[in-house]
Amino acid sequence: MKAIVLSNWGGTENFAIQEVPTPTITPDEVLVKVKAFGVNPADFKTRTGVTPYAQSYTHPIILGWDMAGEVVETGSNVTTFKPGDAVYGMVNFPKPGNAYAEYVAAPADNLAHKPAQLSFEAAAATPLAVLTAWQALTEHGHLKAGDKLLIQAASGGVGHLAVQLAKAIGAYVIGTASGKNEAFVRSLGVDEFIDYTTTDVEKAVSHVDLVFDTAGVDTVFTSAKVLKPNGHLISIAYGAMDKVLAIRPDIKAERTQVHTSGSDLEAINQLIVDDKLKITVSQVLPADQIADAHQQLESRRTTGKIVLTF
Ligand SMILES: NC(=O)c1ccc[n+]([C@@H]2O[C@H](COP(=O)([O-])OP(=O)(O)OC[C@H]3O[C@@H](n4cnc5c(N)ncnc54)[C@H](OP(=O)(O)O)[C@@H]3O)[C@@H](O)[C@H]2O)c1
Repeated sequence: MKAIVLSNWGGTENFAIQEVPTPTITPDEVLVKVKAFGVNPADFKTRTGVTPYAQSYTHPIILGWDMAGEVVETGSNVTTFKPGDAVYGMVNFPKPGNAYAEYVAAPADNLAHKPAQLSFEAAAATPLAVLTAWQALTEHGHLKAGDKLLIQAASGGVGHLAVQLAKAIGAYVIGTASGKNEAFVRSLGVDEFIDYTTTDVEKAVSHVDLVFDTAGVDTVFTSAKVLKPNGHLISIAYGAMDKVLAIRPDIKAERTQVHTSGSDLEAINQLIVDDKLKITVSQVLPADQIADAHQQLESRRTTGKIVLTF
């Protein structure tokens, strides 16, 4: 099969499309013919070797956790899927995902059935971002109807799904992005939009119950300041939480880490079927443009998600 192989830590010049053996499966795994795979900021961070999980990897590596495709073979213990099923998932995380390839061996419990109305491209764009948003808002944030929520970077891969999940729960949602993304973020259903390039978020927002900060390390101080006493800050960026608590000791502040879960995706499927969650794929690129996809992600200026296909 063809795969995008990473030969060393560093830049995108270390990627090459190569012929490699098609993987074999264990009793708990499923062999999936990959129809499309998605990319996430964690992919470029892992490519350069800076993510904690990358420390245990040895080259050559096949990256890629997000994928959608068709089951071609199931392990002897697998009862939930059969050959021909359309599936999607965040596979093998935090080990090397191996999904930048024509076939991937995926643990069955990482996968969910793909709703029929979701294209393979949209399904490949979904898992890591939606699981991050879902787990942060529900498992950690215990978001409920009527809560006032600020989502930083509401136009990003995680943010645009978080807005829709929060609206489905019934929260009052304020979203930040730059002006070029205003129409997009409003189309997701936010109650208020803030252009962080022209408006001081600290002055425009106050008394928030929960902030879901997907923008990065620099924004968490602003995020902390707009919370009501006993409010809750969830960031998905590394670091800074001790400094945040030093200026706002009266709030709860935590960094959450996504975990793979086919069963969470099966629960989220209902929102997709009910048309309450739409995944925005901004670009579908051929696999040989993986360098372009990574470079765009590194710019932190992408809207929605980028997907690739062989
Ligand atoms: N801990 C975890 O489990 C976990 C899971 C997933 C992702 N992450 C991390 O979370 C971050 C977000 O991931 P993602 O996939 O959503 O990234 P993404 O799609 O690359 O986010 C890009 C978006 O961020 C917006 N943005 C950038 N700076 C901003 C700012 N200061 N204020 C408001 N919006 C801003 C941009 O909008 P404009 O162009 O309009 O500025 C752009 O639309 C990444 O650092 C990623 O590594 C962590």
